[in-house]
Parts: sequence; structure tokens; C-alpha cells
Amino acid sequence: MEKDKLNILAFESSCDETSAAVLQNDKVLSNVILSQEYHKSFGGVVPEIASREHLRRITDMTEASLKKASLEMGDIDLIAATSEPGLIGAILIGLNYAKSLSAATGKPFVPVNHIHAHLYSPFINETKPEFPFISLIVSGGHTLLVLVEDFFKHKILGTTIDDAVGEAFDKVAKMMGLGYPGGPLIDKYAKDGNPEFHKFPVAIIKNAKYDFSFSGIKTSVLYYLRDSNFSTLKNEKLISDISASFQHAAVKTLYNKVKKAAKEFGVKDIAISGGVSANTYLKKMFKSIEGNGYRIHIPDFIFTTDNAAMIGITAYYKYKMSKDKDYFLKESLSVKARPRLDYNNF
Ligand code: KG4
Ligand code: ZN
Repeated sequence: MEKDKLNILAFESSCDETSAAVLQNDKVLSNVILSQEYHKSFGGVVPEIASREHLRRITDMTEASLKKASLEMGDIDLIAATSEPGLIGAILIGLNYAKSLSAATGKPFVPVNHIHAHLYSPFINETKPEFPFISLIVSGGHTLLVLVEDFFKHKILGTTIDDAVGEAFDKVAKMMGLGYPGGPLIDKYAKDGNPEFHKFPVAIIKNAKYDFSFSGIKTSVLYYLRDSNFSTLKNEKLISDISASFQHAAVKTLYNKVKKAAKEFGVKDIAISGGVSANTYLKKMFKSIEGNGYRIHIPDFIFTTDNAAMIGITAYYKYKMSKDKDYFLKESLSVKARPRLDYNNF
């Protein structure tokens, strides 16, 4: 007989966060995250360092997550890990660790697509999105607009044709010499800046109404910095104003497309997730339409950037909705790590 309460142990290791979480069904009992600091001095993630650090810390993280949840390995019913997309060497650490635990304990193993995990992360909230809903996934590597008709019934409406929005935040921050990751820094400076200080243009893509392009805005910031002699005039006020103006243009683009899609598909529930959904200005802009009958679902801050709890909740629904539970006992152990997102089988 199937248990009505499943204890899930989940892992995330696709980039530079080593994370382990324990859930009981859709309830998060623990979510421990180790953000690898080593990459900061390199201005970006160094894959080899990421893999080595995952390997060094994954056992500690597992023990910490179980302890925090007041459970032991023997209490776990389901094991989950990210299998795609991300840095291949980094994914392999969490994935193989989880598979080994599954093989050793005989507990089912659920491989999870990292982007699905961002998509379902708002289900960690008490108030869950109702189907159908529009999902905007905005992270460092991906920008996706998705119509979600039911669990794992996704239709990608649009994606970026060049940079991801998080990448644009990171690059603009780097141009101003702010450090990495740039998103939180732009967010912080923008709070004291004027969003109308300078109008940065956002590309309109012909014949693809839901696709995004963020490389143009990045280039226009670059030219602006050069032409306005930023490196000589640089001060906090100027950084704040440029941050606020860039952020306004980037967030407004996302907002306009989401609203258009919600209207076209007659959808009232909008879920936003991924690292950029932590952005203060983005939250404010989207929350402003809640009065018009829209329901905006954004996960709590710790569940927006990479974390294992979102892997756990996705595994929970994936397992629960599956008609072939046996698949997770043997076949799933042969799932391979994949670096790229498969847009055709999303
Ligand atoms: O989802 P995530 O943690 O990792 C990926 O799967 O990519 O997203 C990381 C991205 C980075 O580009 C980071 O700069 C951005 O999310 N980010 C933000 C904020 N916090 C993180 N961007 C804008 N505002 C923020 N507050
Ligand atoms: Zn992510």
C-alpha cells in the first residue's frame, strides 16, 4: 500500500549551490544551502571548482538536512536530484550521490529537471497556483514564458533568443564594476536610483511575440557608460540611477509579455520563479496588478535562487502524478546528466 506521507530527500548541485532538503509531501522540513564563495574572485562560476566543492560538502549537507528535519536516512521514502540542465560535472556529483543512496537503500529515485523545479517552486507556498497558469522562469541561464495547463503539461510560449535576463543583470553589474552575482547588487543600488534617469531601449522581436532579447539592452548600457564617461564620473548616485533605469527596462519587458500572455489565454494565475524573481522592483511591478483579479505567485526568497527544496517539491508531484511508480525503482537510475535544456521535451 502506498504511504500517504512521503518523506523526500532532495539534492541540487547544478551550478554553484550545494543544497540538500527534506520534505514531507509538499511541506519543506529543511533546506540547507551552501553558496560557494570561491567563485566571486573569478567574476563567474568556475566549473571545476564547483564540482570539487559539491563533492567535498555533499555528505555534510545531507546530514545537516536530515538533522534539521529531525529524521534519519531510514525515514526517507523518496530520493531526488537535479539531472539537467546545468554544469555537467556539477550535476554529476549530486545525481550520482542520490542514485547511490537509492541503490543502497532500495528507495525510489526521482530525477528532476532544474527548470521544472524553478517552475514548481511557487507550490512551496501555502497558496498554490491554480491551473492553467502562466509561468515566468527568470534565472541566470534561462528566461522562459510557459503556459502550464496541468502538472507536467507545459507549453513554452517564448524564450530568450540571446542572453537570459539574469545574465543581463550580471553583465551590466560587471560593466559598472559591482561584482558577482550582479542581480542582487543592481537590485540594492536601484532602490536609491531613478528608473527614469535614462531610457534604455528594449528589443522588439518581429513575428515572435513572446520571445525575449536582452543582449541589446546590455549593449546600450555599455555604450551609455562609454559615452557618458562613466569611469571618470563614477559615484554611488550614478550607479544607482543607471541600475534603476536598466532594471526598469528589463523588468518592464518581462511584465508586458506576461500580461499579454495572461490576457490571450484568459489566465488569472501568474507564477514567477528563478533567481531574478527575488528582484524587489519586479515583485512590486507584478504585485501591482493583483487588484485587477490576477493572482501573483512568487516563492519566498530562499526558494527563488537555486535550492534543493524546489527539487523536492517537483519530485513529489512527479512521483505522485506518475502512473508507473516502478519506473522510479530501477529505470530512473539510468537517467543521465544533461547540460542543456531540451526545449522540445519540456
Ligand atoms: O536561479 P538562479 O539561482 O540560478 C540559475 O539557475 O541560473 O539564478 C541566478 C540569477 C543570477 O543571474 C543573479 O544575478 C540573479 O539570479 N538574481 C537577481 C537577484 N537575485 C539573484 N537578479 C535581480 N535581482 C535580484 N535580487
Ligand atoms: Zn536555477
